[in-house]
Amino acid sequence: PITAVVLVAAGSGERLGYGMPKAAVPLGGEPLLLHALRGVVAAGVGSQICIALPAGHDGLRQLVDDFRLELADAGPLLTVVDGGSTRADSVRSALAALEDGTEAVLVHDAARALAPEYVFERVVDSLAAGALAVIPAVPVVDTVKTVVATTGEDSKVAPELVTGTAPREELRAVQTPQGFHLPTLLRAHQAAQALGEKEFAAVTDDAMLVEMLGVPVHAVRGSTQSLKITTPLDLIIAEGLLEGPLG
Ligand code: C5P
Repeated sequence: PITAVVLVAAGSGERLGYGMPKAAVPLGGEPLLLHALRGVVAAGVGSQICIALPAGHDGLRQLVDDFRLELADAGPLLTVVDGGSTRADSVRSALAALEDGTEAVLVHDAARALAPEYVFERVVDSLAAGALAVIPAVPVVDTVKTVVATTGEDSKVAPELVTGTAPREELRAVQTPQGFHLPTLLRAHQAAQALGEKEFAAVTDDAMLVEMLGVPVHAVRGSTQSLKITTPLDLIIAEGLLEGPLG
């Protein structure tokens, strides 16, 4: 299928504490966005890459312009849109800017700047084999529990109370790139507009919206290298990976 990549890079990066958008934060001396762009181009999976950037950030726009010149005519079409206030808004803006004739789309977090090519390939292969939605996922190492905030007397004991434990062997930590049949993802984002504010704020990935439609979402093996660079510790790990990838 004719495939595009949506690269969402419009996050604030507050949790990294650099005082700049996450996409501009240096990793191995170069902005995170540049690593992410190189990764997507190297994977060779899209004829168009549409990047959602923080509105009004001229430096990141310039970075994309420079990268476009570097690619010259050989590379995919690079387009830029202003991101929104949530990740889902940023994805929706980018989807609206895809070229006519696009059949499939991979939605990728720029924060997963070191996602290996083979993960892109697994997602694309699954789409080619007929999946309408496919996500890369890895087993969870921690035991995961649900909790609620305690109130009244209970809150003197501890701030939270455990309400349940999910069976670990059934749990997966989900990454990007997530691949979709484009009309299915458009329908999912359209349906999301009917969600209440609180429900919409709880949308953390695109596959969730497709699941709400009742469309099957398939999972392929992701990679620990696809970590989402979110905290200062993640940046240290990513610097280490750059020096000597785990493979
Ligand atoms: O904030 P979160 O961890 O969900 O961010 C995941 C990805 O979504 C990041 O690459 C970030 O740049 C992007 N994002 C975005 N627009 C937002 C919020 C996050 O493009 N408003």
